[in-house]
Amino acid sequence: MGEKVSLTYKDKTYEYPVITGTENEKAFDTSNLRKETGLITMDYGYQNTGSTKSSITFVNGEEGILRYRGYPIEELAEKATFPETAWLLIYGELPTESQLTLFRRLLTENSLVHENLLHFFREMPPSAHPMGILSSIVNALGLFTPRFYDAESKADEFDLMVAGLVSKIRTIAAFSYKASIGEPFVYPEADRSYCSNFLNMMFSSHTKPYVVNPLMEKALNALLIVHADHEQNCSTSTVRMVGSSQANLYASICAGICALWGPLHGGANQAVLETLIRIQKSGMTIKEVLERAKDKKDPFKLSGFGHRVYKSYDPRAKVLQGLMEKIFDQEDYHDPLLDIARELEHQALRDEYFMERKLYPNVDFYSGILYRAMGIPTNMLTVMFAIGRLPGWIAHWKEMHDDGHLKINRPRQIYTGPNERHWVERKDRT
Ligand code: SDX
Repeated sequence: MGEKVSLTYKDKTYEYPVITGTENEKAFDTSNLRKETGLITMDYGYQNTGSTKSSITFVNGEEGILRYRGYPIEELAEKATFPETAWLLIYGELPTESQLTLFRRLLTENSLVHENLLHFFREMPPSAHPMGILSSIVNALGLFTPRFYDAESKADEFDLMVAGLVSKIRTIAAFSYKASIGEPFVYPEADRSYCSNFLNMMFSSHTKPYVVNPLMEKALNALLIVHADHEQNCSTSTVRMVGSSQANLYASICAGICALWGPLHGGANQAVLETLIRIQKSGMTIKEVLERAKDKKDPFKLSGFGHRVYKSYDPRAKVLQGLMEKIFDQEDYHDPLLDIARELEHQALRDEYFMERKLYPNVDFYSGILYRAMGIPTNMLTVMFAIGRLPGWIAHWKEMHDDGHLKINRPRQIYTGPNERHWVERKDRT
């Protein structure tokens, strides 16, 4: 007989089964709690609440472990390509040679967006935030392929939808950048890798030759892999929430992009760089920045630090640090913001406030400096996060649909508003 939790309420004792995961994580199943006791649980920010079982990603926040379908991200970042990692997350295993050949072909054949959509890029203000453009166009993609709205039941259509989204998100990102600087779009090319195609679409132009730096291509591949999934984070839970109403994949991904945009989540990478630039330009000292971050009356948070799950160093930040040092040495590249970031980390990791609260650098702390070294503008950093995270969003959306009993997500609440009251005609009412 499995483990149980006993709950005593109003002199009655109730028992709830304990669920144990493959990494020995434990939860007690409260599915019958309200029916049996009339109680619901209350857990602001879902800090102690599991929303689902999942076999996609394992995170151990205390030990700084992150694995996709059992593979440590350190190994995937070193040895895999981003398309292979996307396939692993979505379909559960690394692709065979024939599956990879098929996926590569589908990525190539589905890398363009409908030409009618180009007007959208051109009509947007140049200052439009690329996350607003990305979320809008991803939702619009479905309008050009209405047959996909109910395709999730047909495997080959789903595979086509997946390849189209994973491929087009790159094109949309690059086109939004070109439109913002008033340059003509550079189209994807069939004989380029996933990452080489993106860098070429971003930085090639009709007037100046651009050769993709293999080191930057490798760095981009690793960056996208470490961002590819992170279990039930805010944006992935949003994709699941929207998908649970049986909304189509495009609408669900669009919602995930919007959730990622927030500075407490994926928007933090842009906020980190803006903080580093502000320190560099304003002459603000690191000490002043840390004091502001610790001041409860000041809404300023030290972006790139802290995490709901990691109470030790985010393993992704470690991978990115190692990658950065290797590339900057080999390229003899130097960025004064890196010195500021390193000093900020050095002082924060010796500050009682940060250590007491186990606030360590997270994935967003160094990623912006690496993307900046590739020439990617600050306002595109969260778009880069979205490109990486897309396979994870799709994997969770698929897992939720595949598990056989898709239930709409609908949390309960405790009402604290006025008790019943009745309409009173007011004489002064016009
Ligand atoms: C991502 O969930 C995921 O998996 C997300 C992600 C993914 O891959 O999907 O890993 C990606 O979103 C990484 C996080 C990026 N966000 C930031 O870097 C923004 C800065 N960080 C914080 O806002 C915060 O740490 C969060 C949002 C990341 C986590 O917030 P929690 O878990 O709700 O923790 P909390 O706000 O309750 O903080 C606990 C304490 C508080 O102080 P006390 O009330 O105990 O005195 O720590 C303090 C907070 O004020 N604190 C910070 C801080 N982060 C937490 N104080 C200053 N600077 C910070 N960055």
